[in-house]
Amino acid sequence: MGLPQSGIFALGTGAHSIVELELVHPEYGHSTLGALARFALDLDTTKGVNLVVGVRPSLFVHQMDIPVMAEDFSDPVEGVGGFSMPATQADLWLWFAAGSQDRAFDCTRAALALVGGAVRIARATTGWGYQGNRDLTGFIDGTENPPAAEAAEVALVREPARLAGSSIALVQRWRHDLDSFSALSTEEQENVIGRTKQDSVEFDEERMPANAHVSRTSLKVGGEALAIYRRSVPFGDADNHGLLFIAFTRDQGRVALMLASMAGETDGVRDALTRFSTPESGAYYFVPSFDLLEELAAGY
Ligand code: HEM
Repeated sequence: MGLPQSGIFALGTGAHSIVELELVHPEYGHSTLGALARFALDLDTTKGVNLVVGVRPSLFVHQMDIPVMAEDFSDPVEGVGGFSMPATQADLWLWFAAGSQDRAFDCTRAALALVGGAVRIARATTGWGYQGNRDLTGFIDGTENPPAAEAAEVALVREPARLAGSSIALVQRWRHDLDSFSALSTEEQENVIGRTKQDSVEFDEERMPANAHVSRTSLKVGGEALAIYRRSVPFGDADNHGLLFIAFTRDQGRVALMLASMAGETDGVRDALTRFSTPESGAYYFVPSFDLLEELAAGY
């Protein structure tokens, strides 16, 4: 198995800087990607910053000339009642996670300085930890994530061998309407999520509403529970805030199925959470293993 980018699994960082980039000169895609790959590989660990680099799947295929089992987020996910998840696919994704915001900021600027005129920032997000591992709604986020020993199995591609240790990330920025959400009673909020607010205890079958978030995303195919590895980050300021949803998977299909289920595309039942939070971006990125980053960086 190729070595995965270590930032996928590095926990405990409360300061995040996330940028999605578009290539201004696609003909220089290879050199831009190479420079960022070299930056990621040579990142001085004393900086205390983890970096994950992702590439638009179709761009990666083009640059590396190898088949990849992921597709771009090319079309919006249309749901019921006019709900839609926009497709805002960019070319590159950089996720810096550190113990303090200044480190994440400086490192982002250093990476961008390297590729300066070759890219344009499509979206920049400043993220931070909120009350331990809670989303801004106050609910613990990540309870059902696989435990540490199983996270790699869930997140990392195993075959074909050349791609082993790589991953596929869904990156989707959700803007919360916290005024509306906090106007609900705690019981009503818990019905939206499908878990208790204080301790994240999952509802039993009788109590679980069909449109609860847990109900819409806890999916099984052929009796097998579909697991993904979520590393979402609360973001924003007093005016504009929400959750930058980040999930790693070895199988893009299951994440796409969860989005369709949340939107109500599968059975007409739309996730109650979508009444209080609106997706304003959506993109998939192929996250090459360190070994593949080495190949991309060759010559830089
Ligand atoms: C506004 C955006 C979102 C918020 C605030 C949110 C929040 C939560 C919370 C509080 C839980 C329950 C605790 C836990 O297990 O983590 C949860 C579970 C989960 N969420 Fe989300 N989530 C969001 C978007 C998404 C999206 C876009 C996906 C999938 C593409 C997703 C997939 C899941 C999964 C798989 C679970 C675990 C379900 C289970 O119990 O098996 N979430 N989420």
